[in-house]
Amino acid sequence: MKIPFIDVNNQNHLLKKELLNSLKGVLESGDFILGKQVRLFESEFAKYCDCRYAVGLNSGTDALFLALLSLGVGPGDEVICPVYTYIATALSISYTGAKPVFVDIDARTFNIDSNAVEKKITKKTKAIIPVHLYGQPADMGTILAIARKYKIVVIEDAAQAQGAMWKNNKNQWKKVGSIGDIGCFSFYPTKNLSGCGDGGMAVTNKKKIYERLLMLRDQGRKGKNRYLHYIKGYNSRLASMQAAILRIKLKTLDRENKLRRENAKFYSKLLNDCGGITVPYVSASLRHVYHIYAVLLNKSRKISEQLRRKDIYTSKVYNLSLHLQPAYKELGYKRGDFPVAEKISRDVLCLPMYSQLSQKQIEFLVNVLKKLV
Ligand SMILES: Cc1ncc(COP(=O)(O)O)c(C=O)c1O
Repeated sequence: MKIPFIDVNNQNHLLKKELLNSLKGVLESGDFILGKQVRLFESEFAKYCDCRYAVGLNSGTDALFLALLSLGVGPGDEVICPVYTYIATALSISYTGAKPVFVDIDARTFNIDSNAVEKKITKKTKAIIPVHLYGQPADMGTILAIARKYKIVVIEDAAQAQGAMWKNNKNQWKKVGSIGDIGCFSFYPTKNLSGCGDGGMAVTNKKKIYERLLMLRDQGRKGKNRYLHYIKGYNSRLASMQAAILRIKLKTLDRENKLRRENAKFYSKLLNDCGGITVPYVSASLRHVYHIYAVLLNKSRKISEQLRRKDIYTSKVYNLSLHLQPAYKELGYKRGDFPVAEKISRDVLCLPMYSQLSQKQIEFLVNVLKKLV
């Protein structure tokens, strides 16, 4: 049985009629740039995240970059982020001229080790970017407390976690993105809420930040005069075509996430009794949306290869943490500096995870995997 790691077009096929209709509308209207579809998607996505404002952008990377700029981060500043994440988290910091300061991860959740954050704070620290990795919210309680204590801002990297939730100490459930000062999302085609191309969004409850983000994404423009530029902004607008697609897919996001959660539960039930495999940590105060279902095992690379020979496709996301990336050589880190991240990147194996994955496929995969392990 062939089991792909992901099929980015699966959901698009199911929604094809509706998607084509909506794209036809945009095509016929000629309303391509910051038009009605973008405005509607922004207000629908803001509402979905329980935030006042949302700004459609051309990628998740730009959402993080412009979020940092909107908060005044720049050369000479330091920004704390986990060492085990997609490189865009750190790149967005580097683009501003600030320095990314890496923190090791928690061995159970693979999210930033919130207890190790405080030690990395210096007079130069301006912001923390916790990443809700694989769709699981980071330990926001501890991170918010540190941010308040040192008067630094929190930008959530929620690129992988649309719809995930975190429970605060008053027992209130909060959508990721609405917890810190700004929440950043990616709509890259593999994401739980995915476009047919690049796309991103920044959400916030703060009007000043919102207004700054609007200018930053549109070459510094504000208001009706197209040729009056208040700041040196960027071209980072979400395309109307993508917004039209994303509006349709947003309506299915909760159902998609529910199916992912059911698939994860089924995987974990079948794998739980298998010595040698650690299944993802589940907490009652978090709602994980399983952008990725990651297990830990010895010889994960070899097993991934053996599975591939049986037509079962897995991935090692991420097989090299940021401190060992050639792109970050200048920071001077070496092997052994972040032992947890290094162990996880060695042992991680990400299994196929999508809403259309059937229980039959999961059972088949688990049986093959158990034999190999
Ligand atoms: C954790 C994380 N941050 C940021 C990004 C960047 O998003 P994009 O690819 O839309 O620029 C991604 C996307 O892969 C991501 O997974």
